[in-house]
Amino acid sequence: MDKISYIKWEPKYSVGVEILDEQHRKLFDIVNDLIDEIEMGSKNLLPVIGDLVAYISVHFKQESIVMMESNYPGFMKHSREHRDFTEKVQAFLQKYEQGDAELGLKMIVFLKEWIFNHTTRLDIEYAHHLKDNADKLKTPQE
Ligand SMILES: [Fe+2]
Ligand SMILES: [Fe+2]
Repeated sequence: MDKISYIKWEPKYSVGVEILDEQHRKLFDIVNDLIDEIEMGSKNLLPVIGDLVAYISVHFKQESIVMMESNYPGFMKHSREHRDFTEKVQAFLQKYEQGDAELGLKMIVFLKEWIFNHTTRLDIEYAHHLKDNADKLKTPQE
């Protein structure tokens, strides 16, 4: 099996709000830790997945605050994406906890792809809006 490639945050993925960029970088780091775990043949991915789920919920809340502050018109759609993702991860976790170890690799590939695509595409959509509405933001940009 080929090694799963890491994901790398780049300045071009910046959403223009430092706390969110910092969270994105940390999310990428946790995903890369998960990739290491599975490459090392870890039988228990739950601790790192637990970290990831907890951090994602913090991040989604912070993103919601920024989107609301700036009256982002895509807020509902964006929140739905976050919610669907959270539900999918919960379902994965439930099956994994019930002993479906085969699921580990599939779950990690899904997490990696979703987080990368969401951060570098959908999050960038609100970044454009933030740029034009920076005066409304209470969250500092730097
Ligand atoms: Fe995000
Ligand atoms: Fe998002």
